[in-house]
Amino acid sequence: MNLILLGPPGAGKGTQAKILVKKFDIPQVSTGDILRAAVKDQTPMGIRAKGYMDEGALVPDEVVVGIVEERLAKPDCGKGFILDGFPRTVGQADALKKMLAGLGKSIEHVVSIDVDKEELLERITGRRTCRGCGRGYHIVFDPPHVQGTCDGCGGELYLREDDSEETMRKRLDVYEQQTAPLISYYADESVLRSIQGTGSIEDIQQKILVIIKGGKG
Ligand code: AP5
Repeated sequence: MNLILLGPPGAGKGTQAKILVKKFDIPQVSTGDILRAAVKDQTPMGIRAKGYMDEGALVPDEVVVGIVEERLAKPDCGKGFILDGFPRTVGQADALKKMLAGLGKSIEHVVSIDVDKEELLERITGRRTCRGCGRGYHIVFDPPHVQGTCDGCGGELYLREDDSEETMRKRLDVYEQQTAPLISYYADESVLRSIQGTGSIEDIQQKILVIIKGGKG
């Protein structure tokens, strides 16, 4: 199964992707996570990406396309993959189509997760992320068992540098201008399904499963 989770920052792409990984035993390919790891390790790519990320802007297409091309060629993507946060521009979507064609693959499902702006802001400013394994929590909607500590690996939970209200507003504008056009892009390719991303994490997961399994959603 080759799936794209599309949606604005805070829509729940990462949360849903992590559940799907366990169910289908295929990897989550999150360009945000890969870039944050590069920033942490201070690789040349991470040093280049940091300024864009801190500002809430997109990292240039050639950087992220290269990351994804390398990642999708790895053996664990053979059975399928879940793209989370990629593509984010029409240029990235065109590049993805081309690279998948070269691998004899295509995208089967694009699930667009809709959540209104006020809820997105509440989710992002309350999000805490594990420094160790990258798992996301929410201080109200999805708290860890022990405050400030990851349930999974015991790592420290922190507020992402780009999760301030000011940067989040910028990220939402960037989404509207550069990523939202992908909704019609994938509708034209007849692979797009949109769902309401409000409600419990489990309810949203069920809606995604119905789509993947070919139901009406
Ligand atoms: P990235 O890390 O991809 O961030 P994003 O797309 O902005 O998405 P988020 O991780 O903020 O949100 P999400 O939808 O995964 O929500 P989550 O599940 O965590 O990108 C960061 C930066 O990297 C970009 O700004 C850019 O600079 C760069 N970048 C990355 N990819 C790029 C690309 N392709 N091109 C160029 N640049 C790129 O959930 C959010 C919160 O809500 C959590 O606290 C969660 O617990 C909670 N929550 C989830 N579901 C629910 C629910 N149903 N009800 C209540 N709360 C919920």
